[in-house]
Amino acid sequence: MVGARGAGIAQPLLALLRQSALRQSVPLPLHLPSHGRGAALAPELRRLLRQRPGSWDLPELPAFGGPLESQGAVAEAQRRAAKALGADACWFGVNGASGLLQAALLGLCPPGSRVLLPRNLHRSLLHACVLGDLQPLLYGLPLDPISGHWLPPPPEHLGQVLRAALSQGPVAALVVVDPTYQGRGADLAALVALAHGSAGGARGLPVLVDQAHGDGSALAAGADLVVLSLQKAASGLAQSAVLLAQGPRIDHQSLERSLLWLQTSSPSALLLASCATALDDGLSAAGQRRRRRAKRRALELRQRLEALDLPFVRNDDPLRLVLATAPMGINGLEADAWLLERGVIAELPEPGSLTFCLGLRPPPGLERRLGRQLLALRAALGGAPLPPFAAPPFPLVASLALPLGVAWRAQAVELPLQEATGAIAARPLVPYPPGIPLLIPGERLDGERTSWLLDQRHQWPGQIADTLWVVAPL
Ligand SMILES: Cc1ncc(COP(=O)(O)O)c(C=O)c1O
Repeated sequence: MVGARGAGIAQPLLALLRQSALRQSVPLPLHLPSHGRGAALAPELRRLLRQRPGSWDLPELPAFGGPLESQGAVAEAQRRAAKALGADACWFGVNGASGLLQAALLGLCPPGSRVLLPRNLHRSLLHACVLGDLQPLLYGLPLDPISGHWLPPPPEHLGQVLRAALSQGPVAALVVVDPTYQGRGADLAALVALAHGSAGGARGLPVLVDQAHGDGSALAAGADLVVLSLQKAASGLAQSAVLLAQGPRIDHQSLERSLLWLQTSSPSALLLASCATALDDGLSAAGQRRRRRAKRRALELRQRLEALDLPFVRNDDPLRLVLATAPMGINGLEADAWLLERGVIAELPEPGSLTFCLGLRPPPGLERRLGRQLLALRAALGGAPLPPFAAPPFPLVASLALPLGVAWRAQAVELPLQEATGAIAARPLVPYPPGIPLLIPGERLDGERTSWLLDQRHQWPGQIADTLWVVAPL
């Protein structure tokens, strides 16, 4: 290695990572990964990690192989996973759901094609559109005025979206997020049936379901491609994810080609083992018992907190406990900062809510400690309920004034937000988390959009600047 000695490069990282091993240093970790800092790590993976450190860090030896090899242990594990989950094929990924969503979209859609993406898309799908030269058609979703969350599209809503998009030309694929980050589920079977029955070619429109927060049930609902993040709803390490394919609309060679374009040439054996062990664990009787226990505790916790008059968002996943901060008169980002100072680490702060991920083995003493902190939060910051969230001024299906990749690479100038009406965005506006864009490159701002963004600036303190990068006039 060439460079200066004694720089202590690892020190900042190691100091934090060592501290996280001390239980008392983090009173309440309620964030992802779902294994809760190792408490619910897949048992087989835990056993592997007890082996001599590094002994598991193998290259793609012939016996081991990799996600794109037809022979070897990884290929065999992927075949078993596909069979167990009811898919035709399965690929493990070591770059999270992000990497597999990108490969899936590139595998489905030829360059230049139009693809229907929901407004609550994860930013990785936007990046895939740039890489694959795809035209994103962003479709609107209903918005819950109390929490400010995007809701899953009801079938009749999606029907309108499909008719509007298809009336303007062919569409290569539909993407649906299910469940949402906050644990709200869609009537997925009905949505998939609508897409398959729509005029997207002889076989209907293929559907890619982003189940980063889900359990693979999208396959039974008929989805053609499904991406799971195994650290979010299962017991895997961060970055372990799987892509599942089924049915006649999917060309496996095309998928494998896009996986090859995007995947590292040295996939981590540890992360591949994490994919396989998380799936085994999720399907095992012990894993399912653990999940049921965690859900029971979560439901009891929620009842207990509701009895203290604390408001929660109704959702379909008890392990995502979503405090409705807006009815308490508190912005979720401010609630998060306040709780963080007191050692309660939530997962997802948003203007109207704060999501706690309880994990597959919720921390001991959670019931007593969280209740106490939330009551203290209300006493410290609470007030009159915040006004309802206004539906954003988006068309049902939005196309871009300038192609995404062109706008993103264009020469850009910075304008005060107030002066941006009429301009075309050159950079996305993406509060993170959740990583959902409020504005994407190529979108033209009209007056309504500018005032909505000005309002968003107040709602996302510290996340949205006073200025916007827009495409420089020629
Ligand atoms: C809906 C959704 N999809 C995909 C992702 C990306 O997952 P990963 O972080 O595993 O790449 C996220 C991350 O938060 C997400 O919320």
